[in-house]
Amino acid sequence: MCGIFGIVTDKDQNLGPILIEAARRLTYRGYDSVGAATLREDGTIDLRKDVGKIDAVAARYNLAEMRGRRGITQLRWATFGEPSQVNAQPHLDSDGDMVGAHNGNVVNNVELRQQFIAEGMLVRSQNDGETCVHAVERYVNRGYDFIDAIRLAYGDLAGDYAFVIGRTGDDKLYAIKKGSGLVVGIDDGFTCVSSDLPSILPLTRRIIRVQDGEIVILQAGGVELHSVIDGRLIQRQPEIVTQTMDAVQKGGYPHFMLKEIHEQPQVARELLHLLEGSGEVDTVLQKIKSSRHLYFIGCGTSYHACIAGAVFFAQIAGRPVIPVLAPQFVPQYAPAVTHEDVGLFVSQSGETKDVLNALQAAEKRGMTCFGIANVIGSTLTRAAACWLPLCCGYEISVPATKTFTNQVITFLYLAYRMSGRDTSELEQIPDLMEKTLQAVAPQVAALATSLNKWNDMYCLGFGATYPIALEGALKLKEITYAHCEGMLSTEFKHGPLSAVSEGYPVIFVAGPQDVPLIVSGINEVTCRGGRAVAVGEEDSRLRANASEMIVLPLSGPTFNPLLAVLPLQLLAYHLSLERGYDPDFPRNLSKTLTVD
Ligand code: F6R
Repeated sequence: MCGIFGIVTDKDQNLGPILIEAARRLTYRGYDSVGAATLREDGTIDLRKDVGKIDAVAARYNLAEMRGRRGITQLRWATFGEPSQVNAQPHLDSDGDMVGAHNGNVVNNVELRQQFIAEGMLVRSQNDGETCVHAVERYVNRGYDFIDAIRLAYGDLAGDYAFVIGRTGDDKLYAIKKGSGLVVGIDDGFTCVSSDLPSILPLTRRIIRVQDGEIVILQAGGVELHSVIDGRLIQRQPEIVTQTMDAVQKGGYPHFMLKEIHEQPQVARELLHLLEGSGEVDTVLQKIKSSRHLYFIGCGTSYHACIAGAVFFAQIAGRPVIPVLAPQFVPQYAPAVTHEDVGLFVSQSGETKDVLNALQAAEKRGMTCFGIANVIGSTLTRAAACWLPLCCGYEISVPATKTFTNQVITFLYLAYRMSGRDTSELEQIPDLMEKTLQAVAPQVAALATSLNKWNDMYCLGFGATYPIALEGALKLKEITYAHCEGMLSTEFKHGPLSAVSEGYPVIFVAGPQDVPLIVSGINEVTCRGGRAVAVGEEDSRLRANASEMIVLPLSGPTFNPLLAVLPLQLLAYHLSLERGYDPDFPRNLSKTLTVD
């Protein structure tokens, strides 16, 4: 996700402490490297950066002594290029008279870097932040004035990002926004710009929220906003932020979990853009296609994504996959795998010991091991032959939400590519997710209130909604401390049906193609006095048979499971609150499990 901050002041001063403090306040977004640059009075740029935590990098490079009127700092969360000093941001242009940093992802990074090298520019890193700087340099070299160069660069840079740049011999900073967050702060004697409010609020509460397609020109005395498309001046009055810092860090939501649930459409969008430009996807697909057996391996929520992935691979790509819980992989499959087999090891943290043990056992047998992880630089990303990033930014809340949906989307994308289907169809997913979150919210909150007296329930699904039912049940157990079992709907009659009594809640997650089967299951519950809650697309058969329905937007059998998990996440969240618990930090659990 990364974080950027830039400031323009009216006098030459020690900007180091301001930059360090701003960077500290963006750490909640997650990072592996830190950098700062100041544009000094003597017309030079002071750039200091490295891999590591802020305090360590600040001490190693004495960031506190950095002076100037203008400064930029950046926290990097690696996507393009390993965490290293050269890939850390900010970056210089070829001659060292411009400096810039970005957050987000420039998905045509590799192609643009090749073009810049061919055009004779000095490209020092693999990082896409440097690509943003050269994208401006290209048009400056062709004789455009600086603002036009930035506007033209915006047209060349594909992806979701926000970018700040400054040059020597000038008294301004410039910033653009496309997809990623960008906020401006204004006060007497300075203006600043950042990916997020926490770095701005200690300095000022007068802010302007920048919109996509806008370029901001920052001077010590004020800011100007222009349209990137036609350069026209945009008038927007500053607003005063009254929220507390805690509320701001949670993006105005009462809990990180709710914030992260609502971030799902945006991180899905960013992931899809990133996958489209990823060379690693080609490497993974090539190896998968020629493999003998294919395993998807994970724990907890990540394992549920593996099951969803296996269903998509069979249904879309006609390729059988064995989804397996990581610890069970060791006794059940590892002794029999060979160098002809491929495993995709899936983990939000990339540090789950159970997953790393399975990877070690597989590697000993010569199996090709790929990773899918959110935390770049984690052990999994270092141990795997190649890995795909989940692109979710920091997931703070212990219950995984946005990393689950992006894991499922990654598998869906790979299945589409395997089958040669048009991946642009997947671009509907983020909008459908937004629509779902809006549509289900009030009904789910009411359902949570009415379920509160129950300490026991089931969540059932079939086919691609089976892993969604498992995931919904896990979320409910994890943060409400009630027992909720996730199960294949057809298994319910083989034993658990005996639990059903008057009003006993059973949630059915219905894929549109499985409605007749789900309706049978519903009737087995309702005819014994149980309460059947159906989660699915509007359907007269579900409507007529279930006790109540949570209606999802029409999306078809492939996207439906991704939408169905959203009301279940929200249900767990609201039920947790009904019970007076903190959904972000459930008892007995930790976000990263580094023990056997
Ligand atoms: C549940 C949850 C856990 C994790 C599991 C694996 O909300 O977060 O079940 O999914 O501990 O963690 P990772 O994905 O980090 O390997």
